[in-house]
Amino acid sequence: MIELRALRKVFGGTVALEEIDLSVPAGEIHGIVGRSGAGKSTLIRCLTGLEKPSSGTVTIDGLNLTHQSGPGLRKARRNIGMVFQHVNLLDSRTALKNVAHPLEIAGVGKAERLAKAQELLDFVGLGDRAKNYPSQLSGGQKQRVGIARALAAEPKVLLCDEPTSALDASTTEQILGLIRSLRDRLGITVLIITHEMAVVREICDSVTLLADGRVARTGKIAEVISEPGSVLAKELVPLPPVSIDDGASRLVEVSLAGTDLPAVLTAARNVGVSADAILAGAVETIEGRQVGRLRFNVASTDQANGLISALQADGIYAEEAA
Ligand SMILES: Nc1ncnc2c1ncn2[C@@H]1O[C@H](COP(=O)(O)OP(=O)(O)OP(=O)(O)O)[C@@H](O)[C@H]1O
Ligand SMILES: [Mg+2]
Repeated sequence: MIELRALRKVFGGTVALEEIDLSVPAGEIHGIVGRSGAGKSTLIRCLTGLEKPSSGTVTIDGLNLTHQSGPGLRKARRNIGMVFQHVNLLDSRTALKNVAHPLEIAGVGKAERLAKAQELLDFVGLGDRAKNYPSQLSGGQKQRVGIARALAAEPKVLLCDEPTSALDASTTEQILGLIRSLRDRLGITVLIITHEMAVVREICDSVTLLADGRVARTGKIAEVISEPGSVLAKELVPLPPVSIDDGASRLVEVSLAGTDLPAVLTAARNVGVSADAILAGAVETIEGRQVGRLRFNVASTDQANGLISALQADGIYAEEAA
């Protein structure tokens, strides 16, 4: 549904995107993560046609956006709905009229657009708030109205730029639940830019990590999360911060991807490291497999090296942590 090929975008001397290849199949929810300045917003702007790539192609639903301009581009854009961190609702219009607004611009008759807007508000669970003005709605409710508005033109793709960053945890849950149900019920393809790894874990089927304008890693969540030692795996299953203040001791981080916890503990015990040495751990079950990491605090560099070699001999990934 979304295909990027050798996408490159240069601003003056700054290379914002380089050799981006990405395919997101129809009906998939794909997350884009990366540090500030990695190129996430530039990528989404290239997808909407707001920014013209320096080279490479952007294809959405079989239509190459890079070759479109004027009416062709406007038509292609109708396939794309946008949801932002801050919903720009029109304060002087009710929720219903905000949702109907894009239809009004598209020339849809009054009765039809209001009926459609009501249907969309029902869909996002705000059917009884149609007559409310934005000032009478909570942040989460406004975001729902924004989503309903983005769906008005029946897009095939929904691009979300930090859709939950301004919301609290329980509202975030609700919005993510809504996005998932849009995918399940409408078959819409979703691209979510987020800095919240919890969002990626919660609803994404696949994820891309951008670093310095390039794809550092892309894949299914279950795959990338169980890649021993990978940056994305570490970010997706974070460990609580631990500190050691004693100069001699060392931290060893062990990956549990596809490895039984008892096997790790046995290997550790064999080199004199007991379970008491575990300072922090995070384990999750993804698609029936345990993934996660453990941090051991060991007495010396020698013991750290001994533990790492013993684990590696058993095929378990371990490394000294900073
Ligand atoms: N219009 C522009 N003119 C010049 N440089 C730009 C422009 N837009 C983006 N850049 C540069 O391109 C790079 C990527 O920026 P981008 O906004 O895509 O990052 P981002 O991943 O969205 O970051 P953030 O998480 O902070 O929003 C940065 O180095 C940025 O300074
Ligand atoms: Mg950005």
